[in-house]
Amino acid sequence: MARLAVNVDHVATVRQARGTNEPDPVVAAAIAELAGAEGIICHLREDRRHIQDRDVRILRETVKTRLNLEMAAVPEMVRIAREILPDLVTLVPEKRQEVTTEGGLDVLGNPDLYRKVVEELKEKSIEVSLFVDPDPRQIEIAHTIGGDVVEIHTGHYADARTRAEAMERFEKIAQSAILADSMKLGVSAGHGLNYVNVKRFGTIPQITEYSIGHSIVARAVTAGFEKAVREMIELVGGF
Ligand code: PXP
Repeated sequence: MARLAVNVDHVATVRQARGTNEPDPVVAAAIAELAGAEGIICHLREDRRHIQDRDVRILRETVKTRLNLEMAAVPEMVRIAREILPDLVTLVPEKRQEVTTEGGLDVLGNPDLYRKVVEELKEKSIEVSLFVDPDPRQIEIAHTIGGDVVEIHTGHYADARTRAEAMERFEKIAQSAILADSMKLGVSAGHGLNYVNVKRFGTIPQITEYSIGHSIVARAVTAGFEKAVREMIELVGGF
């Protein structure tokens, strides 16, 4: 049975929109764990647009399953990870202008950088995952430089405009998962997965963990909206 790891970044996005202290991604993480999630993920971006340093520190103290810190392969983040000691670090590409992560890492384009960062993290017994496109060359190099896990980028599959396009992209993900598994890498997948497009993945047993955030936060807002309104009506209706 595959595991779900919940990304709480967009709980923090809502909080940051008001610059207040709610909703708290730490509370959301605790609820996710109570509901059965087997991991909590947060992405500390260089521009701190959603998750803050304080969130990562508290999550490290409160997460009871596994804390996965997503981050860019830059010295500041390596220093923070080596201090905070998440269970797992997922290295992701990061561009300041992007709305969200747009693609996988180009490990092949800079193997020395990624090898060094993987070594610096593993020195502290942190497991390292590399977020890569479903491209055999990137998976092979991720393995060569010492990665423990590859997270296969599912964003292009999620963005497919036709069924044929979706199937073609899905097939690449399946082949990449088989390749990574054959190299004894851990295999996870994520980005853009939702309650509809995730259903196809039952046919890829090599993927043992799914990293999902936005669609869970979106569902929480819509599914919980009626209850929230009713509770406020109860309050003001009593005046
Ligand atoms: N995996 C990685 C590497 C990501 O960067 C993200 C987005 O932060 C996710 C998974 C989760 O994607 P989504 O929020 O679309 O579910």
